[in-house]
Amino acid sequence: MSQSSYDHVIQQSIPGYASLARLSVALLAASPLASVPDARVLVAGCGTGAELLEARLQRPDWQLTALDPSAEMLSVARDRLAASSLSQEPLTWCQTTVEALAAEGRFDGALSVLVLQSLPDDGSKLVFLTALARALRPGGQLVLVDLMRPERSPLQAQVEAAWLGYQRASGLEGTPEALAGLSQALHPIGVARLTALVTAAGFGDPAPIFQALDFEGFLLQRRA
Ligand SMILES: C[S@@+](CC[C@H](N)C(=O)[O-])C[C@H]1O[C@@H](n2cnc3c(N)ncnc32)[C@H](O)[C@@H]1O
Repeated sequence: MSQSSYDHVIQQSIPGYASLARLSVALLAASPLASVPDARVLVAGCGTGAELLEARLQRPDWQLTALDPSAEMLSVARDRLAASSLSQEPLTWCQTTVEALAAEGRFDGALSVLVLQSLPDDGSKLVFLTALARALRPGGQLVLVDLMRPERSPLQAQVEAAWLGYQRASGLEGTPEALAGLSQALHPIGVARLTALVTAAGFGDPAPIFQALDFEGFLLQRRA
C-alpha cells in the first residue's frame, strides 16, 4: 500500500482516528513526568507522523524521538513535518523497532498508537511492551491505542459488521471481504490478556481512556 493510500485508509477506516493523536498527546501532556518543560517523549511506531504533528502543536518544547522500522513511513512523516509551520526541533529520528531500542529509563512518556495490534501474541507483544516499559523512567506513562478483541461479547458479530459498514460508508474501495482482509494481518487481544501482558512488562493496570467500536485506548504507568 502506498503511503498516501495508507493515510487515506487509516483515516477512513478507524472511527475516531481524527481525534486519536490529539487525545493521546493531551493525555500524556497532563502526566506528572511529561507535563514538565522539555520532557523527553518517545513516539513508538510514528508511521506517517500523525502523533508527531500533534505533539509539535501542543508541546513544542518536548524532546521527541520519532521511531519506526519503516524508512518509507519515516520519510513521509519527515516531509509532513517539514511542510508544516511547526518547529522541527528538538526531534530525533530512529529507524528501528521498539524492541531493538536500548533506552533504559530515557523517556518521560511514550505514545504507541495502532502498533501492538500488528504483533502476534507469541511472546512478541510481551517483548514489545517490556521494551517500552524499560525505555520509560519509573512513573513514566504510555498512551497505548489498539484494535482489541473483547472477550465474550454477545454483540461482537454486530460490532465487526458495523466496522465493515463504517468503512463502506467512509467511501473506501473494495468489497466487504477485501476490507476484512485488511485486518487479517492484525492480532487483537482482550483486555484481560492485555492486563496480564502489561503487568508482566512492568506497567500498572491499564486505565481505559477511549473506545470506538473495537479500537480502545489505555493509559499505562511504569511501576516504580
Ligand atoms: C498502523 S501504523 C500506525 C502509525 C501511527 N501511529 C498512526 O496512528 O497513524 C503502525 C506503525 O507501526 C510500525 N511498527 C510496526 N512494528 C513496530 C515495532 N516493533 N516497533 C515500532 N514500530 C513498529 C509500522 O512500521 C507502522 O508505521
